[in-house]
Amino acid sequence: MDTTENTAIIADHISMKFNLAQERTEALKEYVIKKIKRQLHYTEFYALRDVSFSLKKGGSLGIIGRNGSGKSTLLKCIAGVMFPTKGTVTVTGSIAPLIELGAGFDPELTAKENVYLNGAVLGHDRAFMNERFDEIIDFAELWEFVDVPVKNYSSGMYARLGFAIATEIKADVLICDEILSVGDMAFQQKCRKRMEELLSGGTTLLYVGQDPQTVEEMCAEALWLDHGRVREYGDSYKVCGAYMDYLDEIS
Ligand SMILES: Nc1ncnc2c1ncn2[C@@H]1O[C@H](COP(=O)(O)OP(=O)(O)OP(=O)(O)O)[C@@H](O)[C@H]1O
Ligand SMILES: [Mg+2]
Repeated sequence: MDTTENTAIIADHISMKFNLAQERTEALKEYVIKKIKRQLHYTEFYALRDVSFSLKKGGSLGIIGRNGSGKSTLLKCIAGVMFPTKGTVTVTGSIAPLIELGAGFDPELTAKENVYLNGAVLGHDRAFMNERFDEIIDFAELWEFVDVPVKNYSSGMYARLGFAIATEIKADVLICDEILSVGDMAFQQKCRKRMEELLSGGTTLLYVGQDPQTVEEMCAEALWLDHGRVREYGDSYKVCGAYMDYLDEIS
């Protein structure tokens, strides 16, 4: 495994185990009683099993795989939103995570207020966000709705705002989950262009995409997850090609 100074992310044999409750408890009281009596039964479920990769600074890695294969869980482990039950994650530099729609937003607050809130969550003060505010709203094309509470936003509008903030703050590592699939075509193209610009500027990109073609074009490397395990990892043309062949086979 590459552990040189040029490495932005190292995921070293990470596993993520969830305990899934086997029975449904209707009421909290019933749950508490069962818990005390140790009558709750769990099944162990591995969302990730022994996943390793390393990504050099300025590199781009696309994560592909079917629904439920562990892509978002992997991003959450890298972003530090979740801790893997086994293995270690090392990230060098600042991270801008864009994983769940609306994460880091307060639905009751306006877009304007949420820019500052989200900035604070990512470790940036008001002055830092002030300098970038206009560009964020310009990119998101949300001037008309800047004073509207984001609970009234469409999912595409949430995605625009989240993407604009995450990319305008110019973190070292951009972590992006499926963002391109929520916005409309014009916005998807704009996002792609921006990600390409960031990549040429030296940003490291970890990107989850449903479409292997896009991942292949945008990322130099790819990692295919299958039921939480690495099925293939390496050159994106090779890995995305194998995944497309697999999709043809099963359809
Ligand atoms: N907090 C949790 N508790 C229990 N199980 C979870 C939790 N988070 C994820 N899982 C399970 O882990 C598996 C992987 O989920 P994950 O969201 O990482 O998949 P994904 O590859 O991102 O899927 P999609 O393409 O649908 O976004 C799923 O079976 C999911 O139900
Ligand atoms: Mg997901």
